[in-house]
Amino acid sequence: MASLPETSPVTVPLLVSSKGVEKIAMMTAYDAPTAALLDEAGLDVLLVGDSLAMTVYGEANTLSATMETMLRHAKAVSRSCRRALVVGDMPFLSYQTDPREAVTNAGRFLSEAGCAAVKVEGGRRVLPAVEAILSADIPVMGHVGLTPQSVHKLGGFKVQGRDSGAAHEIREDAKALAQAGCFAIVLECVPAGLAAEITEEVPVPTIGIGAGPRCDGQVLVFHDVVGLTRDLRPRFVRRYADLAGAIREAASAYAKDVREGTFPNAEESFASPSKPALRRIY
Ligand code: KIV
Repeated sequence: MASLPETSPVTVPLLVSSKGVEKIAMMTAYDAPTAALLDEAGLDVLLVGDSLAMTVYGEANTLSATMETMLRHAKAVSRSCRRALVVGDMPFLSYQTDPREAVTNAGRFLSEAGCAAVKVEGGRRVLPAVEAILSADIPVMGHVGLTPQSVHKLGGFKVQGRDSGAAHEIREDAKALAQAGCFAIVLECVPAGLAAEITEEVPVPTIGIGAGPRCDGQVLVFHDVVGLTRDLRPRFVRRYADLAGAIREAASAYAKDVREGTFPNAEESFASPSKPALRRIY
């Protein structure tokens, strides 16, 4: 067991050996400037989540995320990180249909987008895909509990594992994923007690989202954390900033200056060729 490095890259083995020593801080990231800031801020893991379908593209769920979209965003995130481990989220139907296709798609996150690992949703039912991906030496993060790609089967984004039968299934799913070789498991929207039990029972880190404090780490969606989400805020989200307010204020100040003719001023304009330049831009 070891703690995570301060400046050198967080690797999959280091993350696994941090279980029980240090909590893992993970957040979603979808673009280069945000990823660079989150990396500088010391996030251990950045997830290029298929939640981007909702947060960035304004969809009602994650089902429309495609491999091409995910790879484009994953590449932007990977090239902006020095320390954080970057995990690519495998989108709907990129791993469920055929294990061989799952390996090819997972491999693209590493070879084309520069990720170090992929995440897949589901427990025992996706084991053939998980095992195939792992057999190609591609690290896999599991994800059980509320799995948003199953939104229609689940009847909405609801807490899972509330009765003992459902809790048993989630526990067995998590154990099977760990047994198969997943290096970490996301527990989404499950009762805190169940998440704590699973955390004790599996040898790899659990990363909670709406799963209480006794997981090995926590993950939140960037837009929720910084106050950029328009819709209802789930109760498990803690909002650390109001960027929506700051952006609205900046944009309306700019619009006011444009309308009043106070932007741009001389300093913000170019001189005619006969006069010396006011300011070099390069
Ligand atoms: O897509 C995503 O952002 C996720 C996290 C909520 C774990 O899967």
